[in-house]
Formats: sequence, C-alpha cells, structure tokens
Amino acid sequence: MDSKQPFSFCSELQAMVDNRQAVGRTGKTFLGLEALSTDNNLTTLRNLCMRLKPELTLEIGLAFGGSCLVFTASHRDLGREPKRQHIAIDPYERQVWDDCGLVATERASLFHYLDFRAGPSFLELPKLINEGRQIDLVYIDGSHLFEDVFVDFYFVRKLLGDGKTVLFDDSSNPHVKKVLHFIRTNLAESFVPFDVGPFRADHGISLKYRLAGLAGHRQLLAFRKTGPSERPWDTHFHNF
Ligand SMILES: C[S@@+](CC[C@H](N)C(=O)[O-])C[C@H]1O[C@@H](n2cnc3c(N)ncnc32)[C@H](O)[C@@H]1O
Repeated sequence: MDSKQPFSFCSELQAMVDNRQAVGRTGKTFLGLEALSTDNNLTTLRNLCMRLKPELTLEIGLAFGGSCLVFTASHRDLGREPKRQHIAIDPYERQVWDDCGLVATERASLFHYLDFRAGPSFLELPKLINEGRQIDLVYIDGSHLFEDVFVDFYFVRKLLGDGKTVLFDDSSNPHVKKVLHFIRTNLAESFVPFDVGPFRADHGISLKYRLAGLAGHRQLLAFRKTGPSERPWDTHFHNF
C-alpha cells in the first residue's frame, strides 16, 4: 500500500480524503467532511474486507459515502459481479447530505454494488431480518445516541452470521461505550472481542495506538459472533 495514497484502490475516495470536499446531487458543496470516517477506520475496513472476504456487508450511516466506497470497491476488488452486496442505511442522505454518498458511489462506477435503504435503521434493519439476510461484516456508524446504537446492535445481532464480525465506530463515545459494556457483561458467551489492530496501517503496534488502548481509548472496536446469540427469556441480568 502506498502510504501517500492509501486509498489508491478508489480514486473517488482518495480525492474525498485529500480535498475534504464533497458535492451533492443538486451541486451543494460540503467542506471539512466532519462526518467522514477517519483515515484509520477506512484503512482498517479495507484491510478487513480484503482479508475476511465478506460476501454481504452492511453499514448504518452513509453520509458522504467514505466507508461505502471502501465496501463497494472491496467487493469489486474481490472479483465479484455487482449484485448490490453492500447495504447502506441512512434516512438523512437526501435532505441533509444532498445524496453525496450516492453520487460518489455512482461517480466511482460502484453503484451496482450498493443496496441503499433510505429509512431509519430501526425500521430498515427489521426489514432485512424479514428478508432472511445473513450479514458477514457490519459497520455501526449511524446515530450515536445510546438508545439508537443499542437498537442497531439489537437487530444486527440477529442479522449477523455465526463467526461474523460487527464493528462500532466512536467506541470511546459514552453512548457507544455503554452499549459495548452491555455486550461485554451480558453477551460475552456469544460475542468475543476481535482485535482490529493488525488491520490498521500501523498494524496496531505504534506507540500512540498502544498508549491509547491502555488509556481505554479506541476509535473502532469489533466483536465476532461465536454462535447463536438468542437467550432464554429469564436469563440472569448482569448490571453494567
Ligand atoms: C458519521 S456519519 C457516517 C459516516 C460514513 N459511515 C462514512 O464513513 O463516511 C453518521 C450517519 O448516520 C446517519 N444516521 C443518523 N441517524 C440514523 C439512523 N437512525 N439510521 C441510519 N443512519 C442514521 C446520519 O445521517 C449520518 O449520515
């Protein structure tokens, strides 16, 4: 990988990261792109995709389409025919983001790898369950409110195949952190921590990354589902 052009696999993404600028369907220009996933997250997602070779991927939160470009380009680079094998959910894509993520995916000729759902995740995720989908890799990066992340994970838990992986962005955010505590305390038998360090550009060995970990700060955290996660209705509750 070229360290100056880490996203050379997708020129649209490389330009977005370099210029911090996106243009929407009506020509509206966004500067700064605070909502874009960090370079580290994007690199980690790319390396995870190329290593784990997920057949069906899902992200909650499309915005400018940074992570969507990674997922769709990775399906292409894994040699797959475009079959809308990346699902992206975002209820604000049109009104707030002027379709920037969709436009970027079209410009990159990756649109046919994308299955875009324009409703809120709490409505779209149950539909995916009804459709009988089994997802291999999920990136939870939508609303960061505790109740929304909790509900996202509630449904994702049912959508995720055994042995498959779920990633949480902003895992040090107190809202997200609380959900992660619930998983660790109440679902530890079916969700085991999955170290994404080796998938980062620094392979997880840089001093900065290790010190941040010791201080309990992680941008991106992952769990692997080890097996069926349904629990009897009267399972003991571990406070968290
Ligand atoms: C941090 S941004 C996503 C960034 C994107 N994954 C990337 O890599 O560029 C969070 C997104 O979540 C979306 N969002 C907010 N509430 C949501 C909900 N209930 N369901 C799905 N997406 C939601 C917002 O519209 C916003 O686009």
